[in-house]
Parts: sequence; C-alpha cells; structure tokens
Amino acid sequence: MKKVLLAGNWKMHKTLSEVKAYFEKFLKDLETIDLSAKEIMIAPPFTALAYSRKLTEGSPIKLGAQNACWEEKGAFTGEVSPLMLKELGVEYVIVGHSERRHIFGETNELVGKRAEGVFRFGLTPILCVGETLEERQQNKTLEVIKSQLEAGLNGIKEVGGRDLVIAYEPVWAIGTGITATPEQAEEVHGFIRDFLSGLYGKEKAETIRILYGGSVTPENIESLIKQPNIDGVLVGGASLDPDKFLKICAVAL
Ligand code: G3H
Repeated sequence: MKKVLLAGNWKMHKTLSEVKAYFEKFLKDLETIDLSAKEIMIAPPFTALAYSRKLTEGSPIKLGAQNACWEEKGAFTGEVSPLMLKELGVEYVIVGHSERRHIFGETNELVGKRAEGVFRFGLTPILCVGETLEERQQNKTLEVIKSQLEAGLNGIKEVGGRDLVIAYEPVWAIGTGITATPEQAEEVHGFIRDFLSGLYGKEKAETIRILYGGSVTPENIESLIKQPNIDGVLVGGASLDPDKFLKICAVAL
C-alpha cells in the first residue's frame, strides 16, 4: 500500500537542545495518531542527524537529510556522502530543493547527479521541482517542471522495486504563506505522474509518491491531500513547531 508521506524539512533550524525539546513533545503526542496509512519523515540539519536518530530510535519517525553528494568519499569540501548518511540511519534525502537551486546555484544537471548518487547508495531521493512566479506568469510552469524532471531523473533509468519521491514546490509558495490552490497543485502533480508513466511505466508511476510543498499548514492540509495525485507533503515552517506538524500529520488522510 502506498502510504501518505508527511515530511518535515527543518532547513537551517534547531540547535541540539531545541532538537531534544522538539522530540520530547512530538514523540509523546505522536502516540495519539493512527499511523497505519502514514509515514512521517523529518529532515534535520546535518549537525542534528545523529542526535535525532538517537532520540527517535524505536519510533515510527524516518530520518531524512537535506542534501547529499553523489560520491562515497573524496575531495568534496563541504559535502556529505550518501554512505555517511546511511550509516546514521538516514532513509530519505532531499535533492534539488529550491533554496539549493536559487541561493546556491545548483543546476538541473547537478541535481540529477545528486539524485542518481543517493539512489545508487540505496537511499530514497526526494527530488524537488518547482517554477518561480515569473515562470508561472509566463505560462512556463509545465515546461520548467519537465526540464527539472528530465535532468533530475536522468541517471535513474529503472526504479524496479525501489522507492523514489518527487516533491512539487512552487517557488512562490515556499515560506510566503501563499499556498497553491489544490487545483493548481493537482494540475502539476497530474503532469508529473504522466511524466513518470512515460519514464517508468504506468504501474510503477502509480507507486511513486508525489508530495506538495509550499506553505502547508494544519488549516490547508486537508484540501491538498484530498487531491488524487497528492500523496503527501513536504513541510518547512510548520514542521518546526511540534504541535503544528503533529496537527498536519493527524489531519492528513
Ligand atoms: O521543504 C519545504 C518547503 O520549502 C516548504 O517550506 O512550508 O516553509 O513554505 P514552507
């Protein structure tokens, strides 16, 4: 069964003492939720991964990283390898997040290398795609998404029984409080599903989870998750607050 994926991306937030306080609260409240059809993932900054693993051991929380290199080791100052992440119990890795693309200049091709490397090491890439406001206004949304998917999945020729996640995050909706309407999101999600069908076959494409990200809150989660091609959410700001993230997890189908 395809479980709804509720993913929190903490970005560059939380010291170790804040991480401790978060999980103390979140884990306790999590017991009140039925998780049989849901999977919860949190991606702390690299510095908090090991500690987060320790604090969440034995709980249903899956651990994610916010980026990764494509090599096992070597002269890549500032990078972290998929193998290092695997050793820490990381299962998911976000690649191509809009902040990586727009603040740090990561290109479609670089993102594709990262996605391939993560996949090759047996971790699940969460490939992020999304258009800017300008691109949307110029009616270029689907064109932009298509090139991001083409390059991002270029190295992942076959998915087989393996897991792959795509996150649609319109840049104009990230951290702005402006959420895409469920219809706007569904249009792009349907397009992504069709693209995946063309690449991996219809049956496999149905099993790949496509997340929506961009100002998701406890208030708007319900209308988003009802859409047929929205299989989960990637939450930034609201995932930093254990109460808010818990509400999102509780409401999601
Ligand atoms: O990875 C998460 C997204 O960038 C969404 O962030 O929920 O703060 O808008 P946000």
